[in-house]
Amino acid sequence: MAHIRPFRDEDNKTLLDIERLCPQGNEELALVVDKGPDITARYELYDNWDIRIAEKDNRTVGWIGWTVKQGIEKKYVYIAEVMVHPDYRGQGIGTGLIKEAERAAQEIEASHIYCYVYETNKDFMELCQYLEYTRQKEIRSIGMSAYRKDHTERKYDLERINHKDIFEVVKLINSYYYGRAHFLPFSTDSFRTYANGILGYGLENFIVAKWKGNIVACGGFWDSSVLMEMTYTKEPLMWKLVANAYGILRHFISMPRIPSEGECFDFYSIVNHAFESKHECAMEEILNYCNNLMFDTKCEFFGTYTDSDDPLIDVLKKFKPMCKTLYLYAKPIAGKMPDFDKIYVDCRDTIL
Ligand SMILES: CC(C)(COP(=O)(O)OP(=O)(O)OC[C@H]1O[C@@H](n2cnc3c(N)ncnc32)[C@H](O)[C@@H]1OP(=O)(O)O)[C@@H](O)C(=O)NCCC(=O)NCCS
Repeated sequence: MAHIRPFRDEDNKTLLDIERLCPQGNEELALVVDKGPDITARYELYDNWDIRIAEKDNRTVGWIGWTVKQGIEKKYVYIAEVMVHPDYRGQGIGTGLIKEAERAAQEIEASHIYCYVYETNKDFMELCQYLEYTRQKEIRSIGMSAYRKDHTERKYDLERINHKDIFEVVKLINSYYYGRAHFLPFSTDSFRTYANGILGYGLENFIVAKWKGNIVACGGFWDSSVLMEMTYTKEPLMWKLVANAYGILRHFISMPRIPSEGECFDFYSIVNHAFESKHECAMEEILNYCNNLMFDTKCEFFGTYTDSDDPLIDVLKKFKPMCKTLYLYAKPIAGKMPDFDKIYVDCRDTIL
């Protein structure tokens, strides 16, 4: 059995080293994330978090990190990450770490505990199932490359959010996500605190689209690369073939790019997007605006993580996106689980 203890600052380097050995996925598609230089930076986005370390043979062999969130009635817990050194897998260490998070969830009488699992991450999925977590909902991870500049004429007025717009933006966001599991409606103050509290985001990166003076679409643009760099350690053959074909065609026309296997890449996320259903073109204009910004600054990859039923997915189709699937797994602790039919993906949870 491993010994589990609280996190100490001096664990930072060891945890980063272990994470580099822990791609999430399988032999076909796997992704590794580098959260250096500070493993706790992604936790600082939350008010309430904890990390526990597993030790065996006097070595640090794994860890788990979670955060406690406030729901409409009760608190609930998000497992942000659980990592076990490859030499120590299959010995119950992952199980012990997750049980530690569940104990903490019981202590605060959390309604439920949840995590996200890439569909190719069979090891983690089996572990979740063994621990009686159930699959609740599909999430899409959508990646696009800013491969050409959009020059279409705008029908909407696009602006960076002004402090006078916040009330209207919050109304739009609250109505867009109304009733979705894990969505706690924002107030103007909580929205300001949320956006400004996320390193690389902030209201200065929030765009609104106006139609006859009214806000009909909005979205933030988050440089999540300040908290993580990603690398595909395994890519499906199909991606490689498509990347090759695009590479050849790129000599003649602009074509999207797919990060190559082993290439470290940065990613910007579209966050807190919302739009009125009859103004999806306004959302498209915001995305074009972000695309152009990326193109001009030579940052290539952007996208989002969202519910597979989010109407945004239709808007994104014209950007030739690459999609991956994740599942939300959850388990009741001391209350009822929400209805996960439709969910809100908190962007902070996507530093996976
Ligand atoms: C996912 C991960 C954390 C699992 O860690 P682990 O220490 O190997 O997990 P455990 O040993 O507790 O459980 C692994 C296996 O034992 C099984 N198991 C554990 N205890 C068991 C028990 N008492 N009886 C039966 N089966 C058991 C699990 O179902 C799982 O099954 P498998 O070996 O058939 O795949 C590890 O593979 C990892 O670090 N992966 C890379 C990082 C990652 O993907 N993290 C998750 C996303 S953040």
